[in-house]
Amino acid sequence: AFVVIENCIKCKYTDCVEVCPVDCFYEGPNFLVIHPDECIDCALCEPECPAEAILSEDEVPADQIDFIELNAELAEVWPNITEQKDPLPDADEQNGVPNKRTELAR
Ligand code: SF4
Ligand code: F3S
Repeated sequence: AFVVIENCIKCKYTDCVEVCPVDCFYEGPNFLVIHPDECIDCALCEPECPAEAILSEDEVPADQIDFIELNAELAEVWPNITEQKDPLPDADEQNGVPNKRTELAR
């Protein structure tokens, strides 16, 4: 499956949801996740993210490994999102800011 990693936090551009053929994105207050059992590994979403926050699970770097489990966990509780919406207000300022994971809202 593909995985949304830390840099999505406080950006949430949502370009990714428009291209997913199986609508497997789920939305929290300031982050999106991919349901690992629904993702068909088509890779269409990866180049769409302006924050480069989507990776194949086998490409996730060591310091982001916890996001694999986090996507699986939160996809079970957050609502599905299938249409693009405006990014969060500070998206461009937050794009690339390190160590945002403590700001993940549930
Ligand atoms: Fe959807 Fe394809 Fe991205 Fe998986 S890899 S989340 S199926 S667009
Ligand atoms: Fe997040 Fe990138 Fe999608 S910032 S909402 S994974 S387009």
